[in-house]
Amino acid sequence: MFRHVPVLLAETLEHLAPREGETFVDCTAGLGGHAAAVAARLGTAGRAVLSDADGGNLAAAVARVREVSGPAEVVPIHGNFADLPRALAERGVRADMVLADLGFASSQMDDAARGLSFQRDGPLDMRFDPTSPVTAEELVATLPEAELARLIGEFGEERHAARIARKLVAARGAEPISTTARLAHLVRQAVPASPVGIDPSTRTFQALRIAVNDELGSLHSLLASITRAAAGSGAPFLAAGARVAMISFHSLEDRPIKHTFAGLVHEGRAEHLTRRPVTPGHAEVAANPRSRSAKLRVIRLLF
Ligand SMILES: C[S@@+](CC[C@H](N)C(=O)[O-])C[C@H]1O[C@@H](n2cnc3c(N)ncnc32)[C@H](O)[C@@H]1O
Repeated sequence: MFRHVPVLLAETLEHLAPREGETFVDCTAGLGGHAAAVAARLGTAGRAVLSDADGGNLAAAVARVREVSGPAEVVPIHGNFADLPRALAERGVRADMVLADLGFASSQMDDAARGLSFQRDGPLDMRFDPTSPVTAEELVATLPEAELARLIGEFGEERHAARIARKLVAARGAEPISTTARLAHLVRQAVPASPVGIDPSTRTFQALRIAVNDELGSLHSLLASITRAAAGSGAPFLAAGARVAMISFHSLEDRPIKHTFAGLVHEGRAEHLTRRPVTPGHAEVAANPRSRSAKLRVIRLLF
């Protein structure tokens, strides 16, 4: 059984402040850690809508939420959260609370077959949704060198991106790069070892994962839908006074969230429930190292 420890759980509950009878929408249900805790506070009249790109995770989250004595209505929606606002509006759902806990779940990282980890040899896949069309292997095999370098530089914030791209393009001419171990080995050959002990392939893996799953495009789309809904246009999927919480794990994610939330506050369409981003304390980071870069931001819409 794979485990995933929910990040900033107490803080998320504190700021979302679920009330009985409300509708909770989890855009990234994962293994249902946050969702089960919120659902337990909704009472039987509440409703939990759970969504995830990963059908296996979604099924696990639904099972976990059904175990708590919470909402009678648990609605699973499989797919990318970029498409969720429209799916909710079509079902007539208006969310009182929305949560997006971005990135990957430990279940995915720990499963060698998903190809997300440089520490476990597996197929170079990286898709959160195994039914989506493009794998990391295909990107590495087909992108022109300049595009590969741009992607690794931008999404991995990797200053050796050009060198890495050159190495990968030379290597793929000899033999396809189809495993995580081979990719990690090639990146380590291309760049100098990091003095702080971080594996040199970390940033390249992050970049490919972000690209394969269109993580930033999906986030921008969700944020744009929230902005439109707050202005009374676009898909109406938010209830009056809805709280929106987002947990990000790197600056490429945090920046657009921060700007979108600040823009809504500036326009008088929302108020900050977290004036500064909430970050985990020492105890949480010690118990769950994955939480170390987490930032939680929460707003309440003012319509
Ligand atoms: C950090 S985990 C969520 C963990 C969850 N909060 C819990 O407590 O178990 C992130 C989840 O979001 C999903 N995900 C990432 N990007 C997504 C997207 N654009 N659309 C839908 N799901 C996405 C991943 O498949 C993963 O299951």
